[in-house]
Parts: sequence; structure tokens; C-alpha cells
Amino acid sequence: MMKVRKAVIPAAGFGTRFLPATKVVPKELLPVVDKPTIQYIMEEVASSGIEEVILITGREKGSIEDHFDTSTELEEHLRKKKRMDLLRMVQRISEMVTLVSVRQKEPLGLGHAILCAKKVVGQEPFAVLLGDDLIDAERPCIRQMIDIYQKMDGALLAIQKVPKTETHLYGIIRGRRVSDRVYRVEEMVEKPKQGTAPSNLAIIGRYILPPQIFGILEKVSPDPRGEIQLTDGLRELSQRLPVFGYEFIGDRYDAGDKLGYLQANISLGLKHPELGPKLKRYLKELSGKS
Ligand code: UTP
Repeated sequence: MMKVRKAVIPAAGFGTRFLPATKVVPKELLPVVDKPTIQYIMEEVASSGIEEVILITGREKGSIEDHFDTSTELEEHLRKKKRMDLLRMVQRISEMVTLVSVRQKEPLGLGHAILCAKKVVGQEPFAVLLGDDLIDAERPCIRQMIDIYQKMDGALLAIQKVPKTETHLYGIIRGRRVSDRVYRVEEMVEKPKQGTAPSNLAIIGRYILPPQIFGILEKVSPDPRGEIQLTDGLRELSQRLPVFGYEFIGDRYDAGDKLGYLQANISLGLKHPELGPKLKRYLKELSGKS
């Protein structure tokens, strides 16, 4: 089994669910407590032993690359002010991983965004982490998945149980449980109509994919909105190679959604060593008022 050395982070979407905040600022750069969402994702990648990140960027997204680049003026300023703690913090961000960025000229869907990484990934399995899907876990989610993937072939998707009333918002699998937290995927339905979902196991924004997915995505027809859907590619892949779902351990927040973003800020804020106790007091005060 080949090592998973590369990760693709698609971050080229328009973020329409988060307008007007995302008119100029990419949603991946909106801060959760004190760090941009995408920095949490980059930290997950770096602490999972992945060496290279392929960032898929689009319109107005140059600032994402800048965030992970060295910032000579800022570093010089901090050095002069003898703020060595902040200097180290800023330098650490640009040293985390080797970053290659590829531009998706038009946001033609998640499947198309992943296809943009074809040349840089080459012929090896790779991880995919969605740029707005934040997972708070003791053992990084993608590391948990790499550990499982080492014992298998094909593709591995992160899955999570969601309330039955929310299945229409996700890609849903029907699967046969093969070991603890692992399911062999037998069917995948993208955003099933309410009451028709084959289960409540939803596909979440972490994947480990084999390079065969690229050839498949090249042939996938666009959906009625003109987008190439990853789920369509995965369905085709499952005809050729086994596809598994892994119920990861951790808390997931959709930071590209206004409510998910607020939930992430509150949950991670409560865990923050300095802010946590103050925020807890404030939330108590607020609930007393309501
Ligand atoms: P989303 O569907 O959440 O992104 O895709 P979006 O299209 O920006 O969202 P809304 O619905 O308009 O608010 C999940 C991830 O895939 C990326 C997004 O940037 C996000 O990180 N993506 C999506 C691309 O890179 N390219 C695309 O064409 C679509």
C-alpha cells in the first residue's frame, strides 16, 4: 500500500451561503476564535504526517496563499518590537507544509476542483479535506483515516450519523458494517429527498482517494447546475474498486454555513485556555436573560 503523502484542499467555491461576509473575504479565511478556518485544516494535515498540500483556489483567493506565505514586513515589525512570541507564531504558519496552489478558473463543482489537482498528485492515493469543514478531534481526523486506509484498497470516505431531518443536506450512504466504525459502501445518494434516504450516515468533507478517480471525474457529466459532482465520480469508482466509509471520532462543524460557523466559535471558544472561562460566564449570563 502506498503512503498518503499529499492532500488536496479545495477552496475555490463562491461561499454564497455566507454572503455578504464572503463578497471579498474567502469563507476559508473567516476566523474561528483566533485562527482562519483553513489554518485548522492545514494544522490537521501537518500533524497527520502529510508532506505536501495542493490548494485549489479561485477568484479573490490569493489571500489564502498569502496567509501561508512568509510575511517579511510583519516579521520585521514584530522583531523590532521584540514580540518574539508573535513572531514565532507567524513564522510557524508558513513553515507548516509545502504548499502548491492550482487555480480553478470557474467553480464548476467539487469533482472539478479535485480534477484540477490531477497533474500535481500523479499516480498515488491522496487525501481531500474541504476548506470549510472543521473537525475538532483528539487524533486528527485525516490521521485516523490514514491509519484505517493502510489496511485497505480503494477509497475511504469520512462519515457521520446525522439527524433524519437533515439527511437531505448531505450525500448519504447505504453500507454494510465490516469492522468497528467501518462500512463497505453499497449505495450513495446526493442530497436525497426527505424521507427517501437509505440511512442517516452522511459523507463529511474528508476523503482518501485513489488516483483512478481522476480518469473517472474527466468523464462525469455535469449535473443540471453545470457542476461536476464528486459523488457521481465516487459512485462510478465503487463499480471498479471497493469504497469504504469510516465513522470518525471527533466533532465536525460546517464553517461555511452561518449556524455551523457560530457553533464552531462557541465550542472552540469554550475550549480556549484564556477565553474559555470568560465566554462560559457570558453564556450563563445570556441564558439567564432569556
Ligand atoms: P461548498 O459547496 O461548501 O462550497 O463546497 P461553495 O460552493 O463555496 O458553497 P456555497 O453553497 O456557495 O455557500 C465545499 C468545498 O469545496 C470547495 C469550496 O471552496 C469548499 O471549501 N469548492 C466547491 C471548490 O473548490 N470548487 C467548486 O467548484 C465548488
